[in-house]
Amino acid sequence: MGGRVEIAPGTPQGLSRRRFLTRVGMAGGAATLYGSMAALGLTAGPAAADEFRPPRQNELPTNARGRTSVVILGAGIAGLTAAYELQKAGYDCHILETRDRPGGRIRTIRGGDTLTDTDGVTQTAEFDDGQYFNAGPARIPNHHVTLDYCRELGVSIEALVNANAESLYYHENTGSTDYGPLANTPITHRQAKADYYGYVSELLATAVDQGALDDVLSTDDAERLISFANSFGDLRGGKYVGSGRRGYTEAPGAGHTSGVFDEPPPMSAVLHSQMGNRFSFEFGFNQAMMMWQPVGGMDRIPFAMADAVGKKNITYNATVTEIRNTSSGVVVAYTSGRPGRTRTIQADHCIATIPPMVLRDISSNLSNETKTALAVPTGANTGKIGLQYKRRFWEEDEKIFGGITATNMDVAGIWYPSSGFLGQKGVIVGYYSGAYTDLSIAEREERAVAQGVKIHGDAYRDELETSFSIAWTKVPEALGGWANWPNPRGDAYEHLLKPDGHIYFAGDHLSHNIGWQAGAIDSARMAVMNLHERLVATAA
Ligand code: ALA
Repeated sequence: MGGRVEIAPGTPQGLSRRRFLTRVGMAGGAATLYGSMAALGLTAGPAAADEFRPPRQNELPTNARGRTSVVILGAGIAGLTAAYELQKAGYDCHILETRDRPGGRIRTIRGGDTLTDTDGVTQTAEFDDGQYFNAGPARIPNHHVTLDYCRELGVSIEALVNANAESLYYHENTGSTDYGPLANTPITHRQAKADYYGYVSELLATAVDQGALDDVLSTDDAERLISFANSFGDLRGGKYVGSGRRGYTEAPGAGHTSGVFDEPPPMSAVLHSQMGNRFSFEFGFNQAMMMWQPVGGMDRIPFAMADAVGKKNITYNATVTEIRNTSSGVVVAYTSGRPGRTRTIQADHCIATIPPMVLRDISSNLSNETKTALAVPTGANTGKIGLQYKRRFWEEDEKIFGGITATNMDVAGIWYPSSGFLGQKGVIVGYYSGAYTDLSIAEREERAVAQGVKIHGDAYRDELETSFSIAWTKVPEALGGWANWPNPRGDAYEHLLKPDGHIYFAGDHLSHNIGWQAGAIDSARMAVMNLHERLVATAA
């Protein structure tokens, strides 16, 4: 991304960007205007370096059209995308999926859903109708290709509140760190921002006033910086003395009720709290508002895509037991239906989207280099708990509508639902953390609730109805929330970007958006391009 927002070379000197664009638009029409906007970094998102070139039917040799078969392993978003895009170009695709539904790790937990983990422990969700949480992917940034598929497939989206002025920070003292006077106290994002911005601005203004920055600032720039500090920190006479921005002890109201500011804590208490170190989360390229979620659950995306791919082209409950490259294609063996009953499918090509932590244990004649590469990534230890409450006390009592509370406890974050606002019940995500993986189901709930009570009081325990937790390293079909590579990723990563015989690999682990649906989609599209372009080149 570095440099993308700089003024493009060739922009006329002294011409504002807006005036420049208006002139370009007048001279060259919309296409030229759009191109220029991209050059100036003003369009919605950056293009991937290797832009998707969808395969086209007329590029296939006549004898290959409708006849080139591809077996795709996994109906997660990578496998579905591969099938969906290849079908558009006339490929004959079939997906084998071990689960009884599409989506892979895109898992929305609703009442009646069950999960049996690698320890053999089965949970059944007892959420009410209409209550759910996204146990896997739960947020989509504006610029991700995921939204393009939502548009194309007619999946409705709604805002996912990733940052909220009313959500909280909570730092409790640990054996090794003392957070000072604001420790063990929930502080709103609004308060923390007002205080940090206020005091930092005061320090900046003081430094400029005292000439500490004279070496690096012209007189004019020093004045501009002071003006910025006054506005950013809401300073009075160069000092931060509190501000309506952090809230009121007596709210402004009718008539003569002008409101009374909530007094800020002293600067040293604010710095001591270290809450400001959490602000940068929402500056992240993939974490900044606006963010999105499908209406009704994240799995609406894979379900819509599976519909588009077609029921007859997906076999569910099909567990792959062997993958073989042959001289002319691939043969994949799988168990389906009754245990022990093995079937095979033959195809010209294969795209394997099964996570490497699982794929590496499936019998195959893949090369030793491929097997070694598949052994490198490790499954990320992460999990979530969904807590269904009989009353949305966080909205009614605390005015928190969506957003995430950040803590230094092992729950990490507490997510308030971004749907069903003002309704009666709701599901909070009570932790997003790997610290609960080895606890029993009951212990996970107990521990998460005990931490939430410190922030929200007894309602967090008393109004709880039921919960469901997931530990991704214990989900047999995933063995991790996502894949972690060593840094640098090295030869193993490079190797899996290339096919092994007729078998291509895809998934978010083969992207630079690991743990995002967009990573899986982009990787699938890359495998589709590679497969298609190789076929066209060989046929030519
Ligand atoms: N994409 C995942 C998240 O946003 C890792 O938490």
